[in-house]
Amino acid sequence: MLPTTAALDKKSGGAVSRAMKASRFKGEKGQWLSLLAPSGLPLSRLVLLGIGKAEDIDDKRLQAAGGRIVSGLATKGESTVRVVVDAIKESPIRTSDMAAQLAFGALLRSYRFGKYRTKEKAKDKPSLKTLMIQVRGHDAARKAYAPMEKTAAGVFFTRDLVSEPSNVLYPEPLARQAKTLEKLGVKVEILNQARLKKLGMGALLGVAQGSVRPPYVVVMQWKGAPKAKNKRPVAFIGKGVTFDTGGISIKPSNGMEDMKWDMAGSGVVIGLMKALAGRKAKVNAVGVVGLVENMPSGSAQRPGDIVTSMSGQTIEVLNTDAEGRLVLADVLWYCQKRFKPRLMVDLATLTGAIIVALGTEIAGLFSNDDDLAKHLTEAGDAVGEEVWRFPMNDSFDKLLNCNIADMKNITGTRGAGSITAAQFLQRFVNKVPWAHLDIAGVTWSSKDKPTVPKGGTGFGVRLLDRFVADYCEKG
Ligand code: BES
Ligand code: MN
Ligand code: ZN
Repeated sequence: MLPTTAALDKKSGGAVSRAMKASRFKGEKGQWLSLLAPSGLPLSRLVLLGIGKAEDIDDKRLQAAGGRIVSGLATKGESTVRVVVDAIKESPIRTSDMAAQLAFGALLRSYRFGKYRTKEKAKDKPSLKTLMIQVRGHDAARKAYAPMEKTAAGVFFTRDLVSEPSNVLYPEPLARQAKTLEKLGVKVEILNQARLKKLGMGALLGVAQGSVRPPYVVVMQWKGAPKAKNKRPVAFIGKGVTFDTGGISIKPSNGMEDMKWDMAGSGVVIGLMKALAGRKAKVNAVGVVGLVENMPSGSAQRPGDIVTSMSGQTIEVLNTDAEGRLVLADVLWYCQKRFKPRLMVDLATLTGAIIVALGTEIAGLFSNDDDLAKHLTEAGDAVGEEVWRFPMNDSFDKLLNCNIADMKNITGTRGAGSITAAQFLQRFVNKVPWAHLDIAGVTWSSKDKPTVPKGGTGFGVRLLDRFVADYCEKG
């Protein structure tokens, strides 16, 4: 028994140890024991939550425990929970850091997108308002927690954007949301349709032309690097299709509502910029997102149309539903040309095929650079947002060759759909180290997870925030 537990046991006349025995509570990971109105203690309930063996404790496990506390008590009528973090001698993590990780997990799990529920019953509304954490060395715990809170604010921003329906959040309002980052010191430019035309973004504009809602490209710059160091920025690029009907190659109606979150790549980039600026990351970072709505209409592009991308390369659009790559083609090119970044990472809900390959827990990683791929994989493992790398090579690339234009936007053959999509993107990347994350499977969760309530996950913000912290801010 830990010191605090022992003290509570004594005060309650042994009720805690009797309850532990009666319920076979051993403190195994995730084990939960609740004592209601324990006698001798001025508490409405006492909860013991197992985190397993001391030597197995790590950040992810502590975050999950924090999340469990929130999910287990959110609607139980309690408004305040006090968590006691005792020093555990064998723990590989300092007690103050344990407290910070617990708080981070609890915060991440407390997210809720409730703005459209006007008639909710009181018993379904969260009662929990305050989580207090009691720990020796609370100054150190607070210090460790401060940047995590900023990261969480970025994650929440992304979840909010991803959850909004497409009648509310279309390119213009999404651009305006990005603009709010200015109050954190991010420089935000909004390029309108006329500007995109001048730049020659024919691939992006072709996707947008079926919608009455005009497209935008938003450029966000955070300059946090110490003077004269690491001047060249790291760049993050996002697919922002605020609704994807498929266009003239229209999607089946079943499940089409999911395509409101086809802007998640851009949502992650915007949330990431918020996190980086919030915690004043010592890095120069740029975020560029391409915002369009993919609609069928009298003005929509047709299968067989040929568009000229900003790079000058021409594309035969054989399927108007393979639109994300058309948007990213121009945004990647623009970003690389304007900023000469030291590396680029793009995020996109790009293919249904990635869900076939990896399901809904792990994102697809594609890269032209082993080092970059390794660092992204490590960052993902560290925060519990895993990625799995896929191969790329010329034999896949060849499948995009076209008789009438420089390339076509689908291969027209079966198989390897996520890889050929990545190969398409690579045709718009020059020598710069680049990685593409296909987040189609991980952006939305149909079930609650320890630190992620069901709905928009914000997958990618924590991964890239960690990648920047561990890899870009140092080197
Ligand atoms: N946004 C979709 C991909 C998608 C599918 C995301 C399901 C999330 C869930 C993308 O624009 C798309 O339609 N891709 C096509 C490509 C195909 C036409 C080559 C696909 O995956 O079917
Ligand atoms: Mn599509
Ligand atoms: Zn799409």
